[in-house]
Amino acid sequence: MAEKGFRISRTPVWKKLKEHAEEMKRPEYHLKHLIQEKHRLDKFSLKHVDFFYDYSRQRVTEKTMDLLFELAETAKVHRKYRDMVEGKKVNVTENRAALHTAARSFPGQSVCIDGDNVMDKIDAVRHQMRAFSQKIHSGAIRGSTGKVFRHLVVIGIGGSYLGTEFVGNALFAFADKGIELHFLSNVDSHNFETIKTKIDPASTLCLVISKSFTTVETMANAKQMMAYMTACGLDPMKHFATVTSKGSPGDNGPLSGIETFHMFDFIGGRFSVTSAVGGVPLSLYLGYERFDRFLEGARELDIHTKYAPSPENIPLVSALIGIWNNNFLGYQSQAIIPYASPLSKLAPHIQQLNMESNGKSVTINNYELDDSSGVIIFGEPGTNAQHSFFQLAHQGHPFPIDFIGVVTPQYPEGSCRPHGVSNHQELWANLISQATALAVGKDDNKKTHFFQGNRPSSTLLLNDLSPVNVGRLLSYYEAQTVYKAFIWDINPFDQFGVELGKTIADDLRREIVAKNKNESYNFNHMDEITQFYLDTLFSGRFS
Ligand code: F6P
Repeated sequence: MAEKGFRISRTPVWKKLKEHAEEMKRPEYHLKHLIQEKHRLDKFSLKHVDFFYDYSRQRVTEKTMDLLFELAETAKVHRKYRDMVEGKKVNVTENRAALHTAARSFPGQSVCIDGDNVMDKIDAVRHQMRAFSQKIHSGAIRGSTGKVFRHLVVIGIGGSYLGTEFVGNALFAFADKGIELHFLSNVDSHNFETIKTKIDPASTLCLVISKSFTTVETMANAKQMMAYMTACGLDPMKHFATVTSKGSPGDNGPLSGIETFHMFDFIGGRFSVTSAVGGVPLSLYLGYERFDRFLEGARELDIHTKYAPSPENIPLVSALIGIWNNNFLGYQSQAIIPYASPLSKLAPHIQQLNMESNGKSVTINNYELDDSSGVIIFGEPGTNAQHSFFQLAHQGHPFPIDFIGVVTPQYPEGSCRPHGVSNHQELWANLISQATALAVGKDDNKKTHFFQGNRPSSTLLLNDLSPVNVGRLLSYYEAQTVYKAFIWDINPFDQFGVELGKTIADDLRREIVAKNKNESYNFNHMDEITQFYLDTLFSGRFS
């Protein structure tokens, strides 16, 4: 017998949306017709400060949107969002609040968990980051030989680096502090060896970022780096700092070095860019003032998200469109294609944010989902993506696309116009035409030249790529992610799905240790396949 319990997929509005999706398959609802409708852009776009969200090339009508807004009401998304930003323990499996929004909240505003105002702790860390970055920039804190710091190696993985990498890349044009940023995330020795060739150890600061301070890859890399600094004749204590949660093994532990910055259990790793996780490296790389501007942008979009009614709420509308595409129109994946190279690391960040948060199989009350949650996210900047996987986008397996355009680039353009247009204009010509081509398609008697069209996309425009707007962009994707989860009624703040593989790796590590200690140790007691791989690792070649 089927389990009882609330599932959004068993509500009348879900059924109505399923029926409506059938209706939308009719030829008159092909996008080539829909986009001809008068005032469609006005109807299906939203503007908020420097943000313009256009969903006119999604396979939606007014009826679709009305049903989706009814779905949002049924799922009580606004109440759930408020519970989250007000510090309720929405991460039920771990009995924690999820207060990434507090990390960019107003000073003096109180946000309480169990009556305890967390803003005091957050403000204290902000002051600490500001003071630290100033001391590094002024040369008041230097390496053990007296050299000023010119390289920053972030040692961390997953949520402890992806967001920083995205923002650091996005704001490279503002990085005028003379510090180069490197990421040692992978335990792959190629990552470590490559960084060694790029840094001058005496002017290198290593920042170990780990909420748990038990992540095997991060600990291995931190130890490798510490051994390397020591071998270079440096005092590692003067070349290391840490970001970790209070009370973790790294909190003022042996790798702490110069200083420890705290992150809090009420901010999940993948939501932590605006906490000390992003704050320490980004304020060193860009200067604290710019990091603060980035927080301002995130805070501003958080406020929009909290107060805007459903039809005007950009992250909510985009979450609803995502669910429409995924659960009703049947698209399993979603591409993020920014026509702006500085956003080249946006997709990897959103991949973790979205897929780790929403790739779940049970509701918040532990009932198995009937329909899938989460989509496969991938992406590359345009126009590169066009010359890579857009063949499939146009004629193969269809997938919805988030196009992102930036109105004014970070660098002023010169007067050179190779084809009568500047490079930025060329970029925009492509941005505009791809969305149209996907929507409209092309009839052709030759089958190889036929384009089916009716392939949906949204276009998000930012007036520029300033720190404030990058903050808005981050908040937009964070809010879209949690809104989707609130509709599916899942918990986006835990990640038990990453544990099984880690446990098996723990067992294998023990096997490898045994072999390292005793050459005659064999793997015969293991399954044939595992045995093959372990034998190959030790023999140095497969045979
Ligand atoms: O393996 C998944 C994960 O736990 C992520 O959720 C997290 O961002 C990453 O590992 C790193 O964790 P930590 O900050 O504790 O080292």
